[in-house]
Amino acid sequence: MKPKVLIVDDERNTREGLARALRRHYDIHLAESGMSALKLLEETPVDAVLTDLRMPGMDGLTLVRRILAREPQPVCVLLTAYGNVETAVEAIKNGAYDFMTKPVNLDRLEVVLKRALETRKLADTNRQLRQQLNEKFGMENIIGQSAPMQAVFDTIRQVAPSRATVLIQGESGTGKELVAHALHTLSPREQNPFIAVHCAALPDTLLESELFGHERGAFTGATEARKGRFELADGGTLFLDEIGEIPPSTQVKLLRVLEERRFERIGGTESIDVDTRLVAATNRDLRQMAEDGGFREDLFFRLNVVQITLPPLRERRDDIPLLLNNYFQQFCTENNRQLEGFTPDALDALIHYRWPGNIRELRNLVERMVVLTRGDKITLRDVPGEVRDNGASRRTPGPLAGAVSMEQAEKRMIEQALADHDGNRTLAAKQLGISRRTLHRKLNEFGLR
Ligand SMILES: Nc1ncnc2c1ncn2[C@@H]1O[C@H](COP(=O)(O)OP(=O)(O)OP(=O)(O)O)[C@@H](O)[C@H]1O
Ligand SMILES: [Mg+2]
Repeated sequence: MKPKVLIVDDERNTREGLARALRRHYDIHLAESGMSALKLLEETPVDAVLTDLRMPGMDGLTLVRRILAREPQPVCVLLTAYGNVETAVEAIKNGAYDFMTKPVNLDRLEVVLKRALETRKLADTNRQLRQQLNEKFGMENIIGQSAPMQAVFDTIRQVAPSRATVLIQGESGTGKELVAHALHTLSPREQNPFIAVHCAALPDTLLESELFGHERGAFTGATEARKGRFELADGGTLFLDEIGEIPPSTQVKLLRVLEERRFERIGGTESIDVDTRLVAATNRDLRQMAEDGGFREDLFFRLNVVQITLPPLRERRDDIPLLLNNYFQQFCTENNRQLEGFTPDALDALIHYRWPGNIRELRNLVERMVVLTRGDKITLRDVPGEVRDNGASRRTPGPLAGAVSMEQAEKRMIEQALADHDGNRTLAAKQLGISRRTLHRKLNEFGLR
């Protein structure tokens, strides 16, 4: 039995053109509006829906949302004119499988549709099983109960099943690679390869042949033909780490693969089609780089279909105790140590530290402390000096560093309090715990005006 596909478009020509192209392999149904599509679906459930975005009455986005709110859920692919990519992204966040820009390349449409239906089949048969698995391996190892991390989890859950390109941004050690893995594990591609390329680690020339492969004799030393990572990740996920570091020539090629889903090996002429989902990561501000000309803007927009920004640890201090305990347990087990935990003052210093290296730094530090401590608890003395100091300087006001006299200390505190409140004296006085009049007097006394 042919899979059922519903085509929704207000333009008769488009509708019928698509129908003609797909009729051979699919059982085609047509609707000219969102309303009539919904009505038709009540009587005839379909496997896939191809819908135009802009239509009078109900737009494609609303249609997709309403379709996916009911059971059974067909896979939805949105067709959109150039310039409407943002709405398409919205659709993907709402559960659509993919979007294609008009005019639609019919060969590609067939490929997308085929994949989409395979995805759905997999999703149907494995839904329950996978749900359990997901909970186990997907995000379980990403720790975070803070609001910003919960938002990250929501986005991961929403976009993982689609094939949308995801750009993960965040400082070093915030868990970008972990998230990339989760996106793969929670997707229907889970059984297929997850391939990572660390773009900064490879010299420019090597990077290209790593990504796209090469034919025999393509360059000196190419004694054998070799598949690139894009090919190796076919059906799976390709993770490009430190994407901000790739050279301009490779950026051009990458853009083309993203747009056409095909490429040639170096030294080759044959086009290779791939179904590879791309996840990219960077600890740089890629948008800024694109604005400054350090990164192709068109590539940035292609990569930035969905963005996940990981908050630095110091912006989610609520999670620090959780992470500390987690790694504490892990390293106690690994090192066969029976420790009781952290003393309150040690915990306090660790919570208030800035963590420039984020979770990686925290993890390494916990390991070190677990191994090195001599007592049965981790105490403030086991916490390295720089961590202690940084924590301490956050609790006692920062401006005191290097102050020698009481008077100097007072003066600096006042200056800082005023700076904190843009010169508002009432607020500054309140922060300092003195009256406005006292503040006034001290300002005069120190000659601060
Ligand atoms: N939310 C988290 N919960 C638990 N462990 C985490 C979390 N985030 C990161 N980690 C751990 O911290 C370490 C660093 O994470 P990861 O390699 O994913 O960071 P990154 O953002 O890719 O860093 P870089 O930019 O330096 O490559 C890993 O050991 C990872 O398992
Ligand atoms: Mg990384």
